[in-house]
Amino acid sequence: MPKIIAMAGKGGVGKTTVTALLINYLLTTKQTPVLAVDADANANLNELLGLKVDLTIGRIRKEMKAELPPYITRDQYMEMKVHQALVEESGFDLLTMGQPDGPGCYCSANQFLAMTMDHLADNYQYLLVDNEAGMEHLSRMNLREIDLLLVVSDPSARGIMTAERIAALTEPLGVRADKKYLLVNRAPANLEPVLKAKIEQATNRSGLALGGFLPQSATLAAHELAGHSYLALDRSEPALQAAHEIFARILPGA
Ligand SMILES: Nc1ncnc2c1ncn2[C@@H]1O[C@H](COP(=O)(O)OP(=O)(O)O)[C@@H](O)[C@H]1O
Ligand SMILES: [Mg+2]
Repeated sequence: MPKIIAMAGKGGVGKTTVTALLINYLLTTKQTPVLAVDADANANLNELLGLKVDLTIGRIRKEMKAELPPYITRDQYMEMKVHQALVEESGFDLLTMGQPDGPGCYCSANQFLAMTMDHLADNYQYLLVDNEAGMEHLSRMNLREIDLLLVVSDPSARGIMTAERIAALTEPLGVRADKKYLLVNRAPANLEPVLKAKIEQATNRSGLALGGFLPQSATLAAHELAGHSYLALDRSEPALQAAHEIFARILPGA
């Protein structure tokens, strides 16, 4: 069984950034193989990894609405297609969910997907899910028990409040998170005392522990603009170092 780590947080706070830095960490520390799932309809994890995606789960789901070849069952078809959709790299694979079901979804496709995900996940040491703000994909993929929920926030009082609310969202979805950590992204070197107090309040009254702070980084922004992989970041990059320090401390042991 892989350790399952899921990202949460509102749009633009740095979930995909944290996912890419986490893959960097797991590859560096040789905690592989890793399956990274991009569960954002507006998929872009591949870009931070310098990869191209040709086939998404959304596309496969659509294809399953059409008539399939007679010699193959629907679960075999799903299994075959999901393997086609996997982008296989050294130490990790990437799977992109793509567009969610529209109205009139072929819902049994989701059952086949959940089954296929179960089989597939067994091959990995870690399963990372980069979510969009809502976390519906977790239940769709049949991920009901996750080991670690990383809730990313910007360094603002409202951001921290939102993070606290989002951390509580897993329960209505029927997803149980063993541990939940708050990561404050783009943190200034000197945190305002008021914000520090808000963070303490938020972490004290909820099951959300403080994971740590990631600095604002011009290098991350530049890498993204240039289309360079976050896996090729220089080891001395402070944001990468901060991320590695946090992950070493909070990750569930393999
Ligand atoms: N620590 C950081 N330093 C500089 N830029 C960052 C940092 N974190 C995120 N960004 C930038 O902010 C934008 C949103 O980040 P992203 O990880 O895509 O957020 P999310 O996945 O939560 O929507 C991206 O352009 C990203 O490069
Ligand atoms: Mg994202």
